[in-house]
Amino acid sequence: MTDRIRQVTMEDLDRVTQVEAVCFPPAEAAGKEAFRARIEGFPESFFVAEKDGAIIGFINGAVTDERTIRDAMFEDASLHDPEGCYQSIFGLDVAPEWQHRGIAGELMRHMIKDARRRGCKGLILTCKDRLIGFYERFGYKSLGVSASVHGGAVWYDMILEFSE
Ligand SMILES: CC(C)(COP(=O)(O)OP(=O)(O)OC[C@H]1O[C@@H](n2cnc3c(N)ncnc32)[C@H](O)[C@@H]1OP(=O)(O)O)[C@@H](O)C(=O)NCCC(=O)NCCS
Repeated sequence: MTDRIRQVTMEDLDRVTQVEAVCFPPAEAAGKEAFRARIEGFPESFFVAEKDGAIIGFINGAVTDERTIRDAMFEDASLHDPEGCYQSIFGLDVAPEWQHRGIAGELMRHMIKDARRRGCKGLILTCKDRLIGFYERFGYKSLGVSASVHGGAVWYDMILEFSE
């Protein structure tokens, strides 16, 4: 269990970058400047999980009218459209020593609840095949192989649409 989940601030930049670097291979990890742009661009959909005052995980993504994530969105925070219908998930990270305790689930449920509160129609993400089952538990459905070639990997498009 996290102590709390709160909105990101620019003071979190170094720690967030550090957690990303241990969670993803270099070709896939977002760097400090990408995180700076995301924190500036869409702090309202960027949340960190804290334990004893330290950040142990986070979730973030821009809002868009598109039903799938395009690679350009990862690098260009200005594509964030606050009036868009779908909350995207660019990244869900939990520091390795805190994994397997339900922290990612807490972060995802927080993001889903918040997107619903803001009036979004649903959420979208891309993931590797091994995590499709993990996201299906929250109500996401696979749309098949994504056009994304991010980091040279094969990704799947997933979407969760609110029923009302
Ligand atoms: C994926 C990730 C966010 C899960 O974090 P977590 O806090 O351990 O997740 P939870 O405890 O809420 O859920 C864990 C369950 O999800 C599933 N799961 C998590 N990671 C998995 C993986 N790599 N492969 C298969 N299933 C996985 C398992 O069912 C797991 O159950 P277990 O803990 O009994 O093994 C974390 O492993 C991580 O940061 N990985 C590196 C970055 C990444 O791949 N992020 C997702 C893509 S954006």
